[in-house]
Amino acid sequence: MSEFHGKTVLITGGTDGMGLVTAEMYAAQNARVYITGRNPDKGKDAEEKISKVGQEVTFIECDVAKSDQVESLIERIIKETGRLDIAFNNAGITSKTHAALSDFECEQWDSILQVNLNGMFYSMKYEIKAMLQSGNSCAIINNSSVAGVVAMPNQAAYAASKAGLIALTKSAAIDYAQNGIRINAIAPGPVMGGMNSPEKLQANPERTQKKFDLTAMKRFAEPQEIANTVIWLSSESASYITGTVIMVDGGFSAGKW
Ligand SMILES: NC(=O)c1ccc[n+]([C@@H]2O[C@H](COP(=O)([O-])OP(=O)(O)OC[C@H]3O[C@@H](n4cnc5c(N)ncnc54)[C@H](OP(=O)(O)O)[C@@H]3O)[C@@H](O)[C@H]2O)c1
Repeated sequence: MSEFHGKTVLITGGTDGMGLVTAEMYAAQNARVYITGRNPDKGKDAEEKISKVGQEVTFIECDVAKSDQVESLIERIIKETGRLDIAFNNAGITSKTHAALSDFECEQWDSILQVNLNGMFYSMKYEIKAMLQSGNSCAIINNSSVAGVVAMPNQAAYAASKAGLIALTKSAAIDYAQNGIRINAIAPGPVMGGMNSPEKLQANPERTQKKFDLTAMKRFAEPQEIANTVIWLSSESASYITGTVIMVDGGFSAGKW
């Protein structure tokens, strides 16, 4: 039997991209999976897709940028299953436009930080409260980015949000290391699908080529490769790992050559 059988898993932003693929993998291992997002139509489609590989999946509409919605989300999960074992905090957005800092719109800065950093704080705050009552083997994995580690041009808000998330992860990991909650971040390089849909890649071929060139492996990741890392980090195989950031970036951050 899979070690995830009977565990309650929450994936924020589980309706698309790597969140959806990760949800499918947990569902296939008989976990009780909850996925969230803002768009209910996308949520219902994802729920249908995931239920083909595992029965126990529920979509709940929730904007992680709103603390009251996150609080209600966790309350509902606890009401329905009595526990929360694993959370993959994946919901995130990127800049609509790219600009150097002095030209960067304040509104864009606020919205990116509100989702990517404040939203992560809200999620962790309520998840941890639930996990403290759920037992002794809980795990949180936060989806940062290589952009939070290595600078890229015209991306200050996204970079700051993802670097802030790494600091938030480490800080929380220390606070709860003795409470049976392991908290880690992953930092993917460019991943196919989602934010890198074919249309988005074609819209800016120069930027796409640059990202491709910067991976030492000369390819984007498949979402399954990110999901595999999340599953492993949440498993007993990673029982002594907390407060770290795992680069899943095909060598992007290893060096320029
Ligand atoms: N794609 C990459 O190359 C890459 C690389 C490194 C890191 N990342 C990070 O990985 C995560 C997922 O990226 P992806 O490319 O798979 O994204 P994606 O396909 O665009 O999916 C994002 C998911 O998050 C949800 N979401 C967005 N804003 C939300 C909000 N305010 N509240 C709740 N849900 C929200 C979306 O659903 P709704 O739109 O319905 O809300 C969707 O389910 C992000 O945090 C991203 O920064 C991506």
